[in-house]
Amino acid sequence: MNPENLSLSERVALLQGSLRETPVVELAAEGIRLHAKLEHANPFGSLKDRPAFWILKSAVESGEVTERTTLIESSSGNFANAMASYCRLLGLEFIPVIDPNIAGSNEAFLQRMCKRVVKVQERDETGGFLKTRLRKVQELCKELEDTFWPNQYGNPKVAEAHYRYTGEEICRVFKQLDYVFVGVSTGGTIAGVSQRLKERFPSVKVIAVDAEGSVIFGGPPKKRHIPGIGASVRAELVDRALIDEVVNVPEVETVRACRELLYQHGLLVGGSSGSCYAAVKRYLPRMRSLSAPPQVLFLCADKGGPYLDTVFNDPWCARLEQ
Ligand SMILES: Cc1ncc(COP(=O)(O)O)c(C=O)c1O
Repeated sequence: MNPENLSLSERVALLQGSLRETPVVELAAEGIRLHAKLEHANPFGSLKDRPAFWILKSAVESGEVTERTTLIESSSGNFANAMASYCRLLGLEFIPVIDPNIAGSNEAFLQRMCKRVVKVQERDETGGFLKTRLRKVQELCKELEDTFWPNQYGNPKVAEAHYRYTGEEICRVFKQLDYVFVGVSTGGTIAGVSQRLKERFPSVKVIAVDAEGSVIFGGPPKKRHIPGIGASVRAELVDRALIDEVVNVPEVETVRACRELLYQHGLLVGGSSGSCYAAVKRYLPRMRSLSAPPQVLFLCADKGGPYLDTVFNDPWCARLEQ
């Protein structure tokens, strides 16, 4: 079968099989049964593959995206990588709008996958780049013909993808689950996962993990350096999440936790995974003692490779502590 001869919807249907179940591994821990779900096993390396595919599939089915559509999205990380990869496989044009904080390896990847990459340079009124990136997306959508903005910050399909895939898979693996720790940025992951898990395990506690300096849950804004977790603006998908508690993790703790995951557990994973692990450790004294050790899960959203120049780089980390 030659994919070139297939229609766009037929090519999308073929790609559905790319979303395979990601592994859950158990880590040694005292007093709890600790599990990590390894989302870097997704086809393009992160948990964002699921919503990227799901948004594309829905938009092709509804006719909002055709062979002639250009997709445009603000992302300096995993969502852009996922969208760029799926669009490339489907023969669609995708323009990622990125900013100077992007990891070098991600930028190089996007440059290879996309004909055009737009990089904003000006900080917005919050001191970050998110609002500038979003304004650039709107500009490009007006300027070009036949465009589609996936809107990873507010598209309910993002939560639906995590409900159907990430949440559903967790339900298949566990008979009982007491705590789940999920890193938050747009809130799409925690929205979908929490909705599905609360149906299956009504007493599960959902812990949102945020970065110190992020404004999502109302803390004071502060410059942050580790991508993937936290935000300078609260996205509307956060309101769909069923959250029991929030743990804010300082970046120095994230770094330590990433290294502990690597050197003690053999997991080379990214910043938000370290934040979730650090949050588990912070929360440990408050986990209720049951007759059996509680079943605890945290999500590892991406792999550690793109963080070698930051979280796993000693001089970079030393500057964080100053
Ligand atoms: C590495 C990583 N972890 C966690 C998240 C948070 O996911 P969400 O945006 O669904 O809240 C993201 C989002 O980009 C991410 O890239």
